[in-house]
Amino acid sequence: MNDSGLASFLERAQALLGSGGLKSAAAEIESYCTDWRRRFFGRAAAVVFPNDTVQLAELVRLANRYSVALVPQGGNTGLSGGATPDNSATQCVVSLTRMQRVRERDFANKTLTVEAGVTLEQVQNIAAEMGLFFPLSLSAEGSATIGGNLATNAGGTGVLRYGSARDLCLGIEVVTALGEIWNGLRGLRKDNTGYDLRDLYIGSEGTLGFITAAVLMLYPKPRGVVSSLVKVASPRAAFALLQTAHDHCDASLTGFEYMSAQSTQVVQDYFPEVARHGAAIIGDGDKQLTPSQNRSDSVLLEISHTDSEQAAMEKLESVIGQGLSKGVVQEAVVAQSIAQSRALWHLRECITLGAAEDGAQVKLDIALPLSKLVEFIEVMGRELTAAFPGVRLHNFGHFGDGNLHYNVGAPQHLAAHQPPERRRSIYLDYVERNESRIRQMVHDRVVMMNGSISAEHGLGQLRKSEAARFKSPVELNLMKSIKQALDPKGILNPGKVLDCD
Ligand code: FAD
Ligand code: MLT
Ligand code: ZN
Repeated sequence: MNDSGLASFLERAQALLGSGGLKSAAAEIESYCTDWRRRFFGRAAAVVFPNDTVQLAELVRLANRYSVALVPQGGNTGLSGGATPDNSATQCVVSLTRMQRVRERDFANKTLTVEAGVTLEQVQNIAAEMGLFFPLSLSAEGSATIGGNLATNAGGTGVLRYGSARDLCLGIEVVTALGEIWNGLRGLRKDNTGYDLRDLYIGSEGTLGFITAAVLMLYPKPRGVVSSLVKVASPRAAFALLQTAHDHCDASLTGFEYMSAQSTQVVQDYFPEVARHGAAIIGDGDKQLTPSQNRSDSVLLEISHTDSEQAAMEKLESVIGQGLSKGVVQEAVVAQSIAQSRALWHLRECITLGAAEDGAQVKLDIALPLSKLVEFIEVMGRELTAAFPGVRLHNFGHFGDGNLHYNVGAPQHLAAHQPPERRRSIYLDYVERNESRIRQMVHDRVVMMNGSISAEHGLGQLRKSEAARFKSPVELNLMKSIKQALDPKGILNPGKVLDCD
């Protein structure tokens, strides 16, 4: 594409989208060109905001005509740089945030059909208004969109019971890379009529088509949901607790989040009021954040029951009781109200926010068979700290489904007594110098243990080359063939997920 092609595209796109539908002033589009962690910085020719599917399809046809690359974007909360344009100032970010219609509420079918730009939190609220429950849950839910959740096949805290975004979606509508509209909005739980195109687009991170609407599967609202913060001596003890919870709870176990002592330290460092609140619940105002203060790992346990809160509480108490008698639980606090439960979950959510305040980290998002979790944490911890003395392992995550956010922070002593700006720049420098070696070392071990280098955040730009290191030529070629067949001009999110040349 040449400059005059881009100019013609922008002129026609502006005419199509109307005033306010296209922005190109640098100050107005800067936030759309940077990712949430501020690790990827791009420059776009424009950011466009289609109102509906038909308008988006027309825009994609225009982009094909002028060979302009499009970068789909929802809430821009992704953690792999998938929604950030490259540096060429020739790509166009397509924000789906204006496409916010609720197309259908079907109580009898237990489904909700919404457009891509509806946020996850809005979906949860609409489901609740219907007296039902949408179980996908992650701390960016106030901004993350359903389109983005499906494009990344997001996970979050309820996967061990309800599955990932893919498992909660019965049908989708897509604007293909050629600008056609595929209406696959079927609210069916069974449909064996050929290749599963829905599942091809889900998780494709905007490289195959735009997801413009989705039929989401709702669940009965559990009448009882109870949470507990449990101190454990080690990852091994956390695993023993998980086994106990499996034995006692089966489908009632809806959350099992592991937090290493070092991961909760950043909450204490940067959100002391959240840490204090947690301590108040546990009944000791002098302790700050209890788990890390005592150098303990902890588990946030959630049990749900369809019948009643009492039934959920009985199961929770029985798990904790068993854990105490087996010696795997050191101490536990059970939230006595919704407010207390929120405070415990807030503690968990603030790990990501605290880590972002602290500065750059090597962000890892690995999945392992449950049976390998403990061995991985023990061996990897030894290997990494030997190779990179002083690194902080902010290891936490969705232990119950085998997903660890095994994030690696720079040694604290490098920036001792430095003001925040200087500290962040020292940490960034350390991470930039060591990131690829740390990433490779962790990923090598993960793959050796039959794990995955991305459980839920996707490849985007961040893990593209690492994925290419591990996938077989057969798998890579199959992926390239699919990309070539669905997006022959390569205009959708080029440079993400896989290299096609
Ligand atoms: P974006 O960031 O805008 O885009 C993500 C990717 O999807 C990009 O590749 C983009 O091109 C593509 N895309 C977006 N919309 C569409 C569309 N309509 N059609 C086609 N492609 C599209 N993720 C988890 O899985 N689990 C977590 O627990 C979790 N917790 C988080 C906590 C915090 C504090 C933050 C900041 C992020 C967290 N995330 C988590 C990551 C992020 O929220 C998810 O990946 C989310 O699904 C992204 O949604 P989004 O609308 O922001 O997508
Ligand atoms: C989480 O589980 O909190 C997220 O996936 C975010 C993160 O990895 O920091
Ligand atoms: Zn996560």
